[in-house]
Amino acid sequence: MKAIAAIAPDWGIGDGAGMLYSLPGDLKYFRRQTAGHTVIMGRKTLESLPGGKPLPKRRNIVLTRDRSYKKRGVYVVHSPRELLELLAALGDTDPFVIGGGEIYRLLLPYCDACLLTRVDQPPEISPSVFFPDLASAGWHETASSEPQEENGLTYRFTEWEP
Ligand SMILES: NC(=O)c1ccc[n+]([C@@H]2O[C@H](COP(=O)([O-])OP(=O)(O)OC[C@H]3O[C@@H](n4cnc5c(N)ncnc54)[C@H](OP(=O)(O)O)[C@@H]3O)[C@@H](O)[C@H]2O)c1
Repeated sequence: MKAIAAIAPDWGIGDGAGMLYSLPGDLKYFRRQTAGHTVIMGRKTLESLPGGKPLPKRRNIVLTRDRSYKKRGVYVVHSPRELLELLAALGDTDPFVIGGGEIYRLLLPYCDACLLTRVDQPPEISPSVFFPDLASAGWHETASSEPQEENGLTYRFTEWEP
């Protein structure tokens, strides 16, 4: 599986309620990468999506410890083990982990690549949720796009491997 995230220079990804940046070009990139694939997320990230609804045109899986949790159009699992069993049963070999902080940390050991949109400028909102610091974890940036400019921000689409 792969993780995909938009990150600040300090690896910040959110303030607990929402994302740090508004970048239409990055949303387009996210849609293009994940369209037709399975997306895996934590319950808090699902609740932070518009209307708390699953992403269209993708199979959505949510992780929660709440055994009574149900959401229309979403597969619910309660542990990484249950997640792996579900993916195996579905024959799904190429899903994306889409956040948030707890779930990136939990599933990074199962990831063989990370697609990180790296924004050069610190966000106006102070982050309280972070992506694991891949550089310190021994991962390497293996590819990077040209800098993109949008809304007064510059960012690059990068790929990382362990
Ligand atoms: N920049 C980006 O690319 C990006 C992407 C996604 C999200 N975000 C941001 O990240 C923030 C949310 O991240 P977060 O870390 O607060 O929450 P999260 O990772 O989205 O969800 C955490 C929830 O996942 C469930 N969970 C965690 N560990 C589990 C386990 N071992 N087994 C089963 N369920 C487990 C729990 O749900 P229950 O409490 O229901 O048990 C937990 O409360 C938001 O600010 C969001 O905007 C940013």
